[in-house]
Amino acid sequence: MCGIVGYVGGQQAAPLLLEGLSRLEHRGYDSAGVAVLAGAGIKVAKRAGRVRDLGESVPKRFSGKLGIGHTRWATHGPANDVNAHPHSDAKGDVAVVHNGIIDNAATLRKRLADDGVDLVSDTDTEVLAHLIARSGADTLEGKVADALSVIDGTYGIAVMHADFPDRLVVARNGSPLIIGVGEKEMHVASDLAALVRYTTTVAHLDDGELATLTATGFTTYRADLTATDKAAAPIDVDPASYDAGEHDSFMYKEMLEQPAAAERVLRGRLDERFGTAHLGGLNMDPRETRAIRRVKILGCGSAYYVGQMGAALVEELARIPADAEAASEFRYRDPVIEPDTLYVAVSQSGETLDTLLAVQEIRRKGGRVVGLVNVVGSAIARACDGGIYLHAGPEVAVASTKALTNMFLGFALLSLQLGRVRDLSIADGNRLIAGLARIPEQIAEILQREEELAEVARRLAGSESLFFIGRVRGFPVAREGAQKFKEISYRHAEAYQTSELKHGPLALISEGVPTVAIVPDDELTSRNVGALHEIAARRGPLVVVTHEGVDLGDVDAMRIDVPRNERELDPILLTVPLQVLAYHAALHLGHDIDKPRNLAKSVTVE
Ligand code: F6R
Repeated sequence: MCGIVGYVGGQQAAPLLLEGLSRLEHRGYDSAGVAVLAGAGIKVAKRAGRVRDLGESVPKRFSGKLGIGHTRWATHGPANDVNAHPHSDAKGDVAVVHNGIIDNAATLRKRLADDGVDLVSDTDTEVLAHLIARSGADTLEGKVADALSVIDGTYGIAVMHADFPDRLVVARNGSPLIIGVGEKEMHVASDLAALVRYTTTVAHLDDGELATLTATGFTTYRADLTATDKAAAPIDVDPASYDAGEHDSFMYKEMLEQPAAAERVLRGRLDERFGTAHLGGLNMDPRETRAIRRVKILGCGSAYYVGQMGAALVEELARIPADAEAASEFRYRDPVIEPDTLYVAVSQSGETLDTLLAVQEIRRKGGRVVGLVNVVGSAIARACDGGIYLHAGPEVAVASTKALTNMFLGFALLSLQLGRVRDLSIADGNRLIAGLARIPEQIAEILQREEELAEVARRLAGSESLFFIGRVRGFPVAREGAQKFKEISYRHAEAYQTSELKHGPLALISEGVPTVAIVPDDELTSRNVGALHEIAARRGPLVVVTHEGVDLGDVDAMRIDVPRNERELDPILLTVPLQVLAYHAALHLGHDIDKPRNLAKSVTVE
């Protein structure tokens, strides 16, 4: 959510900053801006709209070898030119870009206004520029530390000052910042995506840390400016994995990557000898694993829905009571934290603030939390007692696909391990292992039927409102299907338990309101088919995601058959066609697939 870049070195900064920002647009795309130290002063160009619009308005006089840039997802104040970052003080000596939220901004704004400061924007960030400019410290590090000492809230910031033309000062508290070490140049960004083209030698700032970047190196400090001596280290990433390549969108590329991603999360973790899974990163010995009496899963949005699929897996395979809850609500209901409950935080980015705060709340009260996280070394991964990395590779599209598939598989691995130290037999363990091993090729099989799915999607795209329904294992599938569809097609897609239809929503079924029904071949098939008849009797168009051989009777439906696997693993195979439907509906409607309106990848604010 929001993106930051910064550069100091021997090259022209503006083109590098603009290129970096284009790599971060998935994190916010309301407005963008850059500031460059050009000649004697700081020049700022910023505007509402996309980075490409900004590129057209960055004039030639922006020649300078030090600068910062930002792409914004509006929190305080609407997306307009004035609220875009960077923000400056009245004289224009300081420029600041900021991710996060300053909680006491209103108080600070009032205090500054009472002192005669003219605040020009509606943002919380602007106060930082004024506070830095007004600090009496004689170093830029001191000025920034002074300003931060009165700030409550979260931030990742990059600061430049006309009086200190050789340096950028950056600081982090709750919003990621990564320093990239180049050849006689230094970069900084809020996401690796903006760095990997220039360097793969990086240092992650920790919360509460500041750093100075000059062309020749960087130094890190605590808030009191005592050194933390952080070193940079090489990371193993393929820069090409941050490119959409020949594909029209990252979402499409990432959907297609699912078979390979699924293989990665399973690789080396399945043990046929004992019918179990090896998950060393959980940091739990068999005695601790056996002592677990309950599993509580926490995540937001799609991660929450996959968490519901995961809870069902845990209950079915390990026979441990399990449920999932929206992490964004959890801490506000003063939850009872139990010592024999295993808490599981699930997150692609590892940055979602609501999930991170839930983890911190649990740990504060003595609970044990493990993470199912994709981004290695992310805040949630670091805040947990252990975890399972998802190895989906970088996910750039706002609409999550491959990371969610790997979350499901991560839950399958966890359930297998929890089950095998309880009642799950070795034979059942191996039945699941064989099923898991088939998943990558079965996902590939579904993706190969894209044309057929695209045709269904085009028909659905014509309706303003849709239902997605399912029961028990199928219900979280319906929720995730509706989520994906609404995110990128902007159609009203609502998920319901099939069993609840006649308790209310049936009133809305009509010719113009299609229903996507999840009808796997399981113990509820005949009841599900009964509901299809009720919908058909009200002339509601039907799309049924089911298994080959399931008899839908004389119901007139567009049918999507997915490959059969073990029943417990059905949810993920039922989910994949729903991603393709959402993608093709949005494509047909001409929407920007990777940048759905009002949304951003990684929600790092409450
Ligand atoms: C939906 C989507 C969001 C995220 C949610 C949690 O496609 O991507 O609903 O699932 O914001 O994000 P992470 O997994 O990064 O914690």
